Amino acid sequence: MKRVGIMTTGGDCSGLNTVIQRFAAGAMLRGWRVIGILDGTDGLIPNPPRIIEFNERTLPIENARLAGSILCNGHAGAMNFETSAKCGRLREFNRRLRESLDELKLDALILVGGNGSLSLAWKNKELYSGLQLICVPKTIDLDIPLTDRTIGFDTAVQQLTSYCDQLMLTARSHHRWFVVQSMGRDCGQLALNAGIATGASAILIPEIKFNVDSLIAHIKNAPTDYGIIMVSEGISLRGHSGKPADMIARKLSAAGIANRTAFPEHIQRAGDTTATDRILATCMADAALHAIENNETYVMTAVDGFRCHTVPLSEFFAAGDAVADPNIPELETANAYVSPDDPLLDVAYHSGIYIGEIK
Ligand code: F6P
Repeated sequence: MKRVGIMTTGGDCSGLNTVIQRFAAGAMLRGWRVIGILDGTDGLIPNPPRIIEFNERTLPIENARLAGSILCNGHAGAMNFETSAKCGRLREFNRRLRESLDELKLDALILVGGNGSLSLAWKNKELYSGLQLICVPKTIDLDIPLTDRTIGFDTAVQQLTSYCDQLMLTARSHHRWFVVQSMGRDCGQLALNAGIATGASAILIPEIKFNVDSLIAHIKNAPTDYGIIMVSEGISLRGHSGKPADMIARKLSAAGIANRTAFPEHIQRAGDTTATDRILATCMADAALHAIENNETYVMTAVDGFRCHTVPLSEFFAAGDAVADPNIPELETANAYVSPDDPLLDVAYHSGIYIGEIK
């Protein structure tokens, strides 16, 4: 009988419980034992490691749509790759992680993580030798190369869209603009998608240069005297520091445009998982189960259009734009960004949205 482990690492998002539930159900159907590791890698540091064993009642189907992870993602500041690298205890951290993995005697480990976690898994691949490592990409940032979608992105777009939809009504009542700062790190996908969905008048993303004077002219000439200006948290403006939404708001105020800022923050990572994210999580869980049966290892589940498959982790890393991770010394993460030929950019432009200096 196989023993398979599953853990959720990095920031949470909606869809984690769906992928856990679908994977555990599929594994139990095959007669495998399913071990849930609590708090991501933090749960592997104590001896014995902090785990739960799944049965049919551990995560009922009706709870699979709920945001967060029943396995949790870890305490802020607890010992993990990031904190131990910062205080020079990475070797000790790795040793304890390996000991726990040996003790758990897993045949396979499902690591549900974002691009930081996946890049770390690839960099520390020897830690996982002797078991099958199958990664499942999740992130609201949609910044993972080689997959069209990541678990949690669609729900985040829905959450941010609904948030802006509400703001639009109060904006109309007061004839003013809301500068909404989206999450997404240095990837503009979340801002771009939710901005189009809510009908934003401008969308500023890190991948595209913008001009403040053009933005102001666009807002002044807009057919309405209210609306949403979506600003991705990753943008910057030369000579300015602080929150991007605040700096854009100051420029608008100086030009006489009445506005307020809004920060939806972690609401973007919560909310009932959308049907699209649930289907994606189900497909990815299914691909992970098949990968175990096919004796694959060091792979990531991915979608290409409607097809879910696995890609080698080495390719995931090689395909991304490797950038230094400011949080983890010596680590490069394999990021993906909005590409200049992303069809949504054209769609936004032709819908009258100021998207930056793309033409
Ligand atoms: O990577 C996911 C993400 O939600 C980013 O979009 C955001 O910048 C960051 O995590 C927030 O992290 P924290 O929860 O540590 O504030």
